[in-house]
Amino acid sequence: MVLDVLRLRAIVLGGRVRQPPFRDHVGFTDHWWGHTVRTDHDWLSLRSDDTEVARAKIMPGSHVGEYYGAIAPPQGWTEIDRLEVRGDLRLRGVGRAAVQAIAAEYPSTRLAALSEDADGFWSSLSWAAHRHRIDGPAYRTLFLSD
Ligand SMILES: CC(C)(COP(=O)(O)OP(=O)(O)OC[C@H]1O[C@@H](n2cnc3c(N)ncnc32)[C@H](O)[C@@H]1OP(=O)(O)O)[C@@H](O)C(=O)NCCC(=O)NCCS
Repeated sequence: MVLDVLRLRAIVLGGRVRQPPFRDHVGFTDHWWGHTVRTDHDWLSLRSDDTEVARAKIMPGSHVGEYYGAIAPPQGWTEIDRLEVRGDLRLRGVGRAAVQAIAAEYPSTRLAALSEDADGFWSSLSWAAHRHRIDGPAYRTLFLSD
């Protein structure tokens, strides 16, 4: 499965976000996509046959990793800050295809993701897992692509 990537932008007027990148949230978690929006993130709509099947919030130049024993290169990692597959399409390979499409969008940097209850997903991509130096359930696992 190969997904197309559509980059979305917020409409900002007078320093305020007037329209967030994603307009409707049917099939997605509303509060992840509809409210506070930072304009220094990239907002990607992952699409198949012009239908949105997943969406992602990306932080280019992320330096996450300091507390994980993984030092980012000077230009940072490309962090997948949030990834969501449409609710009715999960566990069919869309998430894996979405990550492949994101990787193709950012070919010159490694990808990073802090897992939110999805360690099995990131592990299935053969990404390297890094535990927080305080190893406890409160700390998410950092995954880095090859
Ligand atoms: C996590 C998520 C992005 C995975 O996408 P998906 O399309 O359901 O996953 P895929 O079908 O591509 O699965 C790829 C592999 O990951 C595994 N996997 C998927 N979701 C998993 C999860 N939450 N926990 C553990 N393993 C998971 C699958 O079983 C599959 O394993 P396999 O290769 O051995 O068959 C999707 O379930 C989702 O949007 N969840 C809600 C939001 C979320 O948790 N985002 C991640 C934040 S870090």
